[in-house]
Amino acid sequence: MHDVERATPWTERRAVTKGALYDELAEELDALLAGEPDAVANAANAAAAIYHALPELNWAGFYFLRGEELVLGPFQGRPACVRIPVGKGVCGAAASQRRSVLVPDVEAFPGHIACDTASRSELVVPLVAGDALLGVLDLDSPVLGRFDETDRAGCERLAGIIARHLGGAG
Ligand code: SME
Repeated sequence: MHDVERATPWTERRAVTKGALYDELAEELDALLAGEPDAVANAANAAAAIYHALPELNWAGFYFLRGEELVLGPFQGRPACVRIPVGKGVCGAAASQRRSVLVPDVEAFPGHIACDTASRSELVVPLVAGDALLGVLDLDSPVLGRFDETDRAGCERLAGIIARHLGGAG
């Protein structure tokens, strides 16, 4: 009836569980990024796809490793800190440890870097291609405790798909 309000394929979700949502998103991301060699284009589309697919986010995007720093890449959300030294903040911790870092309450994480004061919880997942650390995928939520182990596993899977499609971004 109201055709203009019909959801686009990116917001038409069939998934009824969080795990199924990540299955669906993983498949969609792989298809969205396949065949495009440009890393910036792929990172931009990945940030947009994730931001619009996952509920209760206020920021979703990338930081890429440039020397000893993480430098802001494509994202959705409010303007963010541009450079984060490896080892600093949640992003820097995920990069230096090369493992995902789930922070249920950002105020309880020593050294958390507040880019958007609305952020209450955060999940950062490293992007690794072979032996190389390309950067991190960072998700922020205005909801305390927004991310759980299903999100961690789901986002690690998404990060693996994205890293495969980033080509020259690292
Ligand atoms: N909170 C992050 C900084 C990046 S923003 O959230 C986009 C951190 O502590 O590393």
